[in-house]
Amino acid sequence: MHLGFIGTGVITSAIVTGLCTSQLPVESIWVSPRNKEKSRTLEQEFKQVKVGDSNQAVIDHSDVVVLGILPQQMGKILSDLKFRPDQTIVHLLAGIKISEVTGLIGPVKQVIRAVPLPCVAIHKGPIAMFPHNEDVCQLFEALGSNIVVDNEQQLESLSIITALMAPYYAMLETIVGWAVNQGISQKNASDYTASMFEALSLIAEEAKEGNLDILVKESMTPGGLNELAMTTIKQNGKFGNLIKALEQVQQKVGGVL
Ligand SMILES: NC(=O)c1ccc[n+]([C@@H]2O[C@H](COP(=O)([O-])OP(=O)(O)OC[C@H]3O[C@@H](n4cnc5c(N)ncnc54)[C@H](OP(=O)(O)O)[C@@H]3O)[C@@H](O)[C@H]2O)c1
Repeated sequence: MHLGFIGTGVITSAIVTGLCTSQLPVESIWVSPRNKEKSRTLEQEFKQVKVGDSNQAVIDHSDVVVLGILPQQMGKILSDLKFRPDQTIVHLLAGIKISEVTGLIGPVKQVIRAVPLPCVAIHKGPIAMFPHNEDVCQLFEALGSNIVVDNEQQLESLSIITALMAPYYAMLETIVGWAVNQGISQKNASDYTASMFEALSLIAEEAKEGNLDILVKESMTPGGLNELAMTTIKQNGKFGNLIKALEQVQQKVGGVL
């Protein structure tokens, strides 16, 4: 497969790094000349990567083209470019509907919308996509947990969860801060906490049919420490703040169902 990227920024760099350090055989990866520093760095680091002379050159060399530009740049950049009817386009632009991209690029084989995260650079994390496409699924499976949803609205709802990255780190920071106050070094407290939550997330990922309530129950021995912690949290505001935060973000992006 020949893959092309229009816009070589944070997310493109992460995807290209993830692909080039995976087992997936990708014949060539063309990146656009902007950002100059990022594209040159990728070319120097990975033998499959080449910097195109222009956005059009990247498209002309590629079977699958990934759009990694900012939503506000989309109109100006895409209206100058010519795509082929045999090409598959993967658009990553937050808040932009597939129909908006299709309207700008003309007839192509398929336009896929996806929401990856920078942790794909280390082959971790979710990548939500819609609609299904075998070639794109293969790419994403090499990068993390690929989740194909049933419609665009579901993709937008899942993408709202990404707003909990900062609150999540803040939760870890709070726990680590408590441990440091107990006399544990910052490094040991942080390693322990991060490793524990990583393990819990791996188990949650394996939960049958995604039934996390079973894990909640299994983790609470009657009269035990987890039960005490859970009771304390429930008595002090529960997890309602998380839902409030998600609703606020959803309202802001205009994705209210
Ligand atoms: N970052 C994330 O975690 C993430 C996750 C999922 C989806 N996304 C989406 O992915 C897109 C890119 O996000 P990002 O965080 O990677 O942004 P970014 O780092 O700002 O990357 C945007 C890139 O577009 C380049 N660019 C500007 N004008 C261009 C042109 N005429 N032709 C080609 N490239 C041009 C910029 O180059 P210069 O630096 O030279 O201006 C920059 O390298 C956004 O639509 C965002 O919504 C991001």
